[in-house]
Amino acid sequence: MNIAILGAGNVGGALGKGWAAKGHSIYYGVPDPRSEKVQTLLKSIGKNARAGSVHDAAASAEIIVLATPWPATHDAVLAAGKVAGKIIIDCTNPLEPDLSGLAIGHNTSAAEQIALLAVGAHVVKAFNTTGASNMANTHYGNNEVTMCVAGDDIAAKSTVMKLAQDLGFEAVDAGPLKNARLLEPFAMLWIYLAIKQGLGANIAFKLLRR
Ligand SMILES: NC(=O)c1ccc[n+]([C@@H]2O[C@H](COP(=O)([O-])OP(=O)(O)OC[C@H]3O[C@@H](n4cnc5c(N)ncnc54)[C@H](OP(=O)(O)O)[C@@H]3O)[C@@H](O)[C@H]2O)c1
Repeated sequence: MNIAILGAGNVGGALGKGWAAKGHSIYYGVPDPRSEKVQTLLKSIGKNARAGSVHDAAASAEIIVLATPWPATHDAVLAAGKVAGKIIIDCTNPLEPDLSGLAIGHNTSAAEQIALLAVGAHVVKAFNTTGASNMANTHYGNNEVTMCVAGDDIAAKSTVMKLAQDLGFEAVDAGPLKNARLLEPFAMLWIYLAIKQGLGANIAFKLLRR
């Protein structure tokens, strides 16, 4: 698939590398496509990745991934231009700058705010509940890390679940987009455990069944 990733940092880099290795075409939309950081990332991925403006990347793709810091996400969505009919995967967490909590929540979510801006797009919340290093390596021994996926459009959600499986995640349907109100605090718990509680980034949530 043609996938535009807005943001080429920890999350954008890990997702793009994994998908390119599975044969997807990655077009990074970033503020400075020629920066050394972006060029180094492109070299490490190889032929399935390129970079350009946010507008050009978004226009080229049927799937747009938001891997931007929350304060930059509003501008990134507007710069993407017409997104009606496209799938937008929202990986963001609306973090307070000191990581002490979420800037919004309970009665809305980052994903729902994005859906209001991205008129006509199918917004799906995913890839926000674990660290970028778990996106680069989705396995703990024989266990696949669980990735919860929430969205209102069934076909779009199914596409995103397949993209999660391409990376090696166990994809779980977490219901409608409104459930981003649950997934964003869930991400905050991962951040708390990893950083404030000192467990480090090599931890992940797994759904157990019996
Ligand atoms: N890090 C994690 O483990 C993790 C896990 C799950 C979810 N998340 C969420 O995912 C998002 C990205 O996190 P990250 O750690 O990948 O951040 P990051 O490493 O700081 O990377 C952010 C990327 O976004 C780019 N960017 C900034 N403003 C932009 C704009 N207006 N349009 C397009 N691109 C823009 C940055 O470009 P420049 O470098 O040129 O500024 C950079 O490439 C955040 O919302 C975060 O909460 C992070």
